[in-house]
Amino acid sequence: MNKSATLTKAPMSVMDAIYTRRAVRFYAPTPVDEGTVGLLLDAAVQAPTAVREEPWAFVLVQDRETLKRLSDDVKKSLDEVWRDVHLPEASHDSRFSIPENVFYDAGTLIVICGKPLGRFVAADCWLATENLLLAARAMGLGTCVIGLAVNTLNAPKWKLELGIPDEMTAFAPVIVGTPSGETPATSRHKPAVLRWIK
Ligand SMILES: Cc1cc2nc3c(=O)[nH]c(=O)nc-3n(C[C@H](O)[C@H](O)[C@H](O)COP(=O)(O)O)c2cc1C
Repeated sequence: MNKSATLTKAPMSVMDAIYTRRAVRFYAPTPVDEGTVGLLLDAAVQAPTAVREEPWAFVLVQDRETLKRLSDDVKKSLDEVWRDVHLPEASHDSRFSIPENVFYDAGTLIVICGKPLGRFVAADCWLATENLLLAARAMGLGTCVIGLAVNTLNAPKWKLELGIPDEMTAFAPVIVGTPSGETPATSRHKPAVLRWIK
């Protein structure tokens, strides 16, 4: 695939992409074109993959009516989602505010799906996801993983509509779009090193 199609500016270093990637929650209406989606998928599948299994497959949704219906169904499933993430009941509202549209009105959703669960399928799919997030950042695009949508995407009704075979699992829903405005930096704790034996 011809990377120069979209990477017209000076390429961003990997370290810059890692350090400046942020979860973007405000998007301009500009659509992400097919060539750009292709570049992102191509970057995703360059991820390391255990025993070269390449267990991933992708669903792309750019139809706003479908995104709205999916978002509405996600919002109906939130009690179940909170149970899965083991948040204490009292923190549901204070730690997370649920937006009107769980996809923040981004026009593109990419769902990274995996073949039947093997030991490293989830790892491979999440590594592919990180490649996609960093590639998008390097191309000037914003992304956000929407974990809230995972349960709904794995419901039989949505698997059928989105063409996800029964035996596959939707792991990582990622919205993509042109960021609108600046996304504030977040911070991280220092890495916890349990032991460093020299
Ligand atoms: C597995 C996973 C699920 C996430 N789910 C959501 C989500 O449903 N909605 C959302 O707004 N952000 C979601 N995020 C984004 C995180 O909130 C974000 O990465 C975190 O706040 C740190 O911010 P940063 O990525 O800008 O550094 C998710 C991130 C991950 C890795």
